[in-house]
Amino acid sequence: MDLDAFRWLLTDPGQDLLVRTAGALAEQGDELAVQTSLRRTAAAEHVAAALTQVALRARAEVKLGPSAAKMYFTPDGLEQATRLPVARHRAARLTAFEATTHVDLGCGIGGDLVAVAEAGITCVGVDLDPVRVAVAEANLAALGLPGAVSVADATRIDTSPFDVAYADPARRTGAGRTFRVEDWTPSWSFVETLLRRDSCVKVAPGIPHALVPAGVEAEWVSHHGEVKEAALWSGRLATTARRATVIGPGGLATLTDDDDPGPAAVGVRATGAYLYEPDGAVVRAGLVTAVAAAAGGGLVDEHIAYVTADEELSTPFARGYRVLEELPYREKQLRAALRERGVGRLTIKKRGVDVVPEQLRKRLALDGDTEATIVLTRVAGQGTALLVQPL
Ligand SMILES: C[S@@+](CC[C@H](N)C(=O)[O-])C[C@H]1O[C@@H](n2cnc3c(N)ncnc32)[C@H](O)[C@@H]1O
Repeated sequence: MDLDAFRWLLTDPGQDLLVRTAGALAEQGDELAVQTSLRRTAAAEHVAAALTQVALRARAEVKLGPSAAKMYFTPDGLEQATRLPVARHRAARLTAFEATTHVDLGCGIGGDLVAVAEAGITCVGVDLDPVRVAVAEANLAALGLPGAVSVADATRIDTSPFDVAYADPARRTGAGRTFRVEDWTPSWSFVETLLRRDSCVKVAPGIPHALVPAGVEAEWVSHHGEVKEAALWSGRLATTARRATVIGPGGLATLTDDDDPGPAAVGVRATGAYLYEPDGAVVRAGLVTAVAAAAGGGLVDEHIAYVTADEELSTPFARGYRVLEELPYREKQLRAALRERGVGRLTIKKRGVDVVPEQLRKRLALDGDTEATIVLTRVAGQGTALLVQPL
């Protein structure tokens, strides 16, 4: 996005054009017609900037909720921004730590920055990209939040005056998303230096446990069942080694390695009356055995993230199923068993077996009136099919 056109959008005539653009799009729907009519009274680059913002605001609502309607974005900046409930959780941890000052080293359009400012923490953001800096600044202003944002290289900032230093390194190269920490900007070596003080660094959920420095807490966060990120907490902000935080319709819940007796204590056992599918954040954090312990159960297989137990457990950390019966695993016999039970709509869950649910569902060609869920997994090394009922 062009910096001058963006700055113009923040002026009174720019704000007027933004309102007219949103109104015209809501009324007419046809972007081309709206563009043509707006171009009669406004410059092409201003109309383009307004149309871009209206489209991005609509797209941003999923991540940022109703605030998105007042905020500004760039397409990549929105893509990289932390979703609001996750950013608010992080800000709440900073508040609990009694942090009063915070520096965001690569703030982008300010997804995290606004949540920290909203929590009443004095925040400063820097970014190399002048457009993102202008957007982050505008976002703080649009939400009536204090904070300072400037163009600077994060690696040259003296972070010592701040209670907490935060980084969310860009994990993209010209070729797209990168999983190699060496390609991050700011770099992994910068992150390692940062982790020697009180800091928080957002990282990819796939970060190998071995990469987490000793004494640093790794927290995996899921939102409505999807793992969104991991965050590394260092210095006095680290309160455990591994943590899984799940944010869902019932609020937020967190599980740590203090809740985990470990695989040796939990063990593998025969399938009981209930099966539990731990949340992705729990699996990534390596805390499946903590769920097994809470359920008074065990694992179906030492390498598979399913827990089985005799007791019913209501937990935010796993989806539970009542095990109705074991069905044949072989496809032909499985089809016969499902047809016999009049199954038409079939949900297939799987872990640890080489099955593509969509393809299997097509091949099974079921046409009964009943709805069913099956779990395909390995129990004691053997392919197993379980007919289950979600709790
Ligand atoms: C993943 S984005 C941050 C997103 C942000 N946390 C949010 O929620 O909106 C990473 C940002 O780091 C910036 N960046 C990368 N290297 C930097 C450096 N050396 N100094 C300052 N900013 C940098 C990029 O321009 C990018 O905007």
